[in-house]
Amino acid sequence: MQGIEAFRPEGFLAIRARAMPADTNPAGHIFGGWLMSQMDLAGAIHAGIRAKGTVATVAVDGFKFHAPVHVGDEVSCYTKIIRTGRTSMSINIEAWVRRSTVRTHVKVTSAVYHFVALDSEMKPRPLPEEDETTNADVD
Ligand SMILES: CC(C)(COP(=O)(O)OP(=O)(O)OC[C@H]1O[C@@H](n2cnc3c(N)ncnc32)[C@H](O)[C@@H]1OP(=O)(O)O)[C@@H](O)C(=O)NCCC(=O)NCCS
Repeated sequence: MQGIEAFRPEGFLAIRARAMPADTNPAGHIFGGWLMSQMDLAGAIHAGIRAKGTVATVAVDGFKFHAPVHVGDEVSCYTKIIRTGRTSMSINIEAWVRRSTVRTHVKVTSAVYHFVALDSEMKPRPLPEEDETTNADVD
């Protein structure tokens, strides 16, 4: 069935939130912009760890809404760095929900977010070398 896959997200669980009535659009469905912002927050957490500092979202590619989010769903955003450049990185982000009524996991969105590491003047700065402190999975 479209949008329902075996629960196998790749990457780092960067954020988890409950979809609330305040996040709905006039039709009573969860507003897509809320989901996009949760994914942006998740990506920025991972990007900030990799960049060891401030990052900005510079672009988003291939955004897809696979299935709707319902009020009460538990939304989890998984992030995986798929490319690093001189100052930028691309992060694949998937949001999955666990429905409040049915204990199944459903992939609801996916996209590639691009982040740039910024210096104190908000200009692009080179990414630091990768080491154990740039691995989001390590506390
Ligand atoms: C992010 C920002 C500082 C980048 O400045 P810029 O002058 O465009 O910088 P550059 O052209 O030198 O690009 C910097 C990096 O971003 C990458 N980049 C720029 N546009 C991109 C795009 N559309 N998609 C993917 N990567 C992009 C470049 O390839 C470069 O990467 P690299 O150094 O790894 O090769 C600037 O665009 C900005 O301030 N944008 C607003 C950010 C913002 O407000 N975001 C929302 C809130 S966080």
